[in-house]
Amino acid sequence: MVSTLGIALGATLTLVVVALHFSKGTEAAIPDDISQEVLEQRAASVPETDFPEPMNRSIGGGGVAAGAVEAGAEGELAEGAEEEAADDDPSAIPDDEAATFEVEYVKEGATIEVKENETLLEAGEDEGWDMPYACREGQCVSCAGHITNGGNSEDYVKHHTQSMLGEEELDEGYTLTCVAYPTSDLSLETRETP
Ligand code: FES
Repeated sequence: MVSTLGIALGATLTLVVVALHFSKGTEAAIPDDISQEVLEQRAASVPETDFPEPMNRSIGGGGVAAGAVEAGAEGELAEGAEEEAADDDPSAIPDDEAATFEVEYVKEGATIEVKENETLLEAGEDEGWDMPYACREGQCVSCAGHITNGGNSEDYVKHHTQSMLGEEELDEGYTLTCVAYPTSDLSLETRETP
């Protein structure tokens, strides 16, 4: 037996569902696209750096960053700096372009040919001699030696990145063999510290 109340309740619920289906909701204002605006705000708040950073934060990487360096200009700068660094680093000279000099290792009792792209330390090691060294970066004096030709050692070698010898010690002929590339014939006493 069908209850009249049940039928009435069912009909009411159906009407409510139909009415809800056709009713319009409130209009929500949806911005066209906020992403560009947000990116610009972020870019303006993040300072540019002159060193590589991960992801999108390297110079020019933000694309919309205020004051970002143009990729082309930065590229040219980086290229120029690289070339300068290569000019400054004798080890970057290709073997077939490197000049050769006669280096007398006084205590070892031998004169050998050393290319301008190898250090006095490496050349001695290649001969199998027990050469002193520690950092190999011009940051200590373990590898120090004395150029006995007279005058400033940098008249005979190019020091790459040495930071230990002062002008007076260089004038006396001292050198750090781990970063000393010959630029002339010379005589070297190894194990001589200023
Ligand atoms: S090994 Fe340290 S300065 Fe040469």
